[in-house]
Amino acid sequence: MKDNIKKLAHIIKNSNNMVVMTGAGMDTESNIPDFRSKDGLWYKMDPAKVATVEALHQNYPLFHEFYSARIKNMDNITPHEGHYVLAELEEKGYIKSLATQNISGLHAMAGSRNIYELHGNIREIRCNECHTSHSIEEFLDKKNCNNCGKNALRPGIVLFGEMLPTNTWQRAMRDVENSEILMVIGTSLQVYPVNQMPYMTRGKTVYINMEQARGYDFDIEIIGRAGEVLTEIKEMLL
Ligand code: APR
Repeated sequence: MKDNIKKLAHIIKNSNNMVVMTGAGMDTESNIPDFRSKDGLWYKMDPAKVATVEALHQNYPLFHEFYSARIKNMDNITPHEGHYVLAELEEKGYIKSLATQNISGLHAMAGSRNIYELHGNIREIRCNECHTSHSIEEFLDKKNCNNCGKNALRPGIVLFGEMLPTNTWQRAMRDVENSEILMVIGTSLQVYPVNQMPYMTRGKTVYINMEQARGYDFDIEIIGRAGEVLTEIKEMLL
């Protein structure tokens, strides 16, 4: 791992256009479970039953229970060292932008600024019918929409089968296409279209994960915990 980290630090030092893409593995060290690791969320709950628009329409009580629990579990979360390292690398000019699949908001809390929240943000509540914004409390209290009256408040996240926010996705793709380095951290790359990002860059591709990448051929693969690996990269760079 050390040699690959040294190799990575060298190419980062000689680039000024790195884009980072993160997944749920970036948040597990902040005590937010991921989805597909052995104790991930989708081993406890079938995503089709809670994380789809059909679930919202056909079984709102279960949909509401699932996302209320996720919101409450995020009440006291804090960024870990790895989030702060990414914010510092952006501040020092090494990172151009950060595209995340995570809905926790931890990257922004740690100080990253140029962020693309590709799957939205769980704290942004809206009415699924008329799109009026609402507060988390109104969602948790199962209030009806105060504009159209419907019982359809939902978190502003991308459910399976929904489109990604168009402008966010297009800007993230443009940055990846123009990047000299794409660093992919803590994602199993199972979900389209974000799992196409490694094919979109002409630059070097880097994979930081607890497991080997499957079905991809990254230029550099570092097997380790995101927080530890990012801290080692920072020590070599700054
Ligand atoms: N450090 C590095 N990698 C980690 C760590 C860690 N501390 N913890 C977990 N991982 C890795 C796992 O090995 C796995 O490859 O992170 C990856 C997490 O994969 P998933 O659970 O599939 O999460 P993700 O890839 O972000 O899922 C994408 O699927 O359910 C949807 O919308 C949801 O955004 C999510 C999307």
